Amino acid sequence: MKIILIGFMGSGKTTVGHLLAKKLNLKVVDMDDLIVKISKKKSINEIFTKDGETHFRELEIEVGKSMADKKNIIISTSGGVVINKIIIDHLKMNDGKIIFLKTSFLEINKRLKNIKDRPLFKDKKIAKKLFTFRQRLYEEYADIIVDTSNKTVDEVIISLLKKI
Ligand code: S3P
Repeated sequence: MKIILIGFMGSGKTTVGHLLAKKLNLKVVDMDDLIVKISKKKSINEIFTKDGETHFRELEIEVGKSMADKKNIIISTSGGVVINKIIIDHLKMNDGKIIFLKTSFLEINKRLKNIKDRPLFKDKKIAKKLFTFRQRLYEEYADIIVDTSNKTVDEVIISLLKKI
């Protein structure tokens, strides 16, 4: 089984990924962690400030491609994977099922209010534009959509397990 979690920043991909991996006894990987690792930088923020977003996106594609042949795994993606279809194509290889964790902007705003490690969430207006633009893409690429707004992580896991 290969499960790919997509969704905007703050939709809970990492948290849900880890819990789901435990429940299904699968390995879990977080694309942001892998990107930081290959960048040899300390954080996503550092990649953005020192190398720029374009370089970050190149690393994101590299990591996405490296996920093509994986199996028995849950992949928590970085929120931007949908802007480069080549990443989605590679993630889907080996019968990957894409699950979109759908969360309202209001809820995301609440969750990320005091979080400083999201370079693209510093300006709320820009973040809202990105959010609106990407919704269509998340929906288009999803095999399954799970609404996470007003749900606890446990409730998200329950509705997700029902759908897969
Ligand atoms: C990004 C999302 C972040 C991280 C980077 C860019 C985006 O990951 O990859 O800040 O473009 O949406 P999370 O979705 O895990 O926050």
